[in-house]
Amino acid sequence: MPVDPLDYRKVIGHFATGVTVVTALHAGEPYGMTANAVASVSLDPTLLLVCFMDGSETGLAVKESGWFCVNILTADQEDLSNRFAQRASDFGGVEWYAGEMDVPVLAGGLGHVVCRVDRVVDGGDHDIVIGEVVACARNGGDPLLFFAGGYRRMSPAAG
Ligand SMILES: Cc1cc2nc3c(=O)[nH]c(=O)nc-3n(C[C@H](O)[C@H](O)[C@H](O)COP(=O)(O)O)c2cc1C
Repeated sequence: MPVDPLDYRKVIGHFATGVTVVTALHAGEPYGMTANAVASVSLDPTLLLVCFMDGSETGLAVKESGWFCVNILTADQEDLSNRFAQRASDFGGVEWYAGEMDVPVLAGGLGHVVCRVDRVVDGGDHDIVIGEVVACARNGGDPLLFFAGGYRRMSPAAG
């Protein structure tokens, strides 16, 4: 007997994550989507996955262009997370530069990972895009976290 999807959502929402904005360039236009369904898959080869809900504009841009960038947000980039959680967000006023294969890299992030789409796997109402990591860099800083439907910040470790 399958579980109630809303119950599942509430429970899995207690799996704390970082927050990213996944970006792509398609037909000369930048696309971006806030995502926390992001995971490292493999080191040899270097693979990462992102889950895109059916109908995501950014997911389409990623699949059509074949490239994407995962931008890891810092604690002070909540505004970017909110902006890119809107459908077909525009990049007006957002600082970014063209990375490898011209994928948009957001300025001021904790780090970023550029991927070539390796394969797309059906994942129910999402597409699981597995990318081969071709470049990555980190800048440091504190992460923006997401837990139980809201943003959190890291608290200093005890002891
Ligand atoms: C913290 C957070 C995490 C999210 N994670 C995902 C995700 O992993 N995959 C996804 O498809 N949508 C996710 N969303 C929702 C998308 O950001 C949202 O649906 C967005 O409007 C999609 O934009 P697009 O259609 O322009 O690509 C998340 C939203 C928030 C606020």
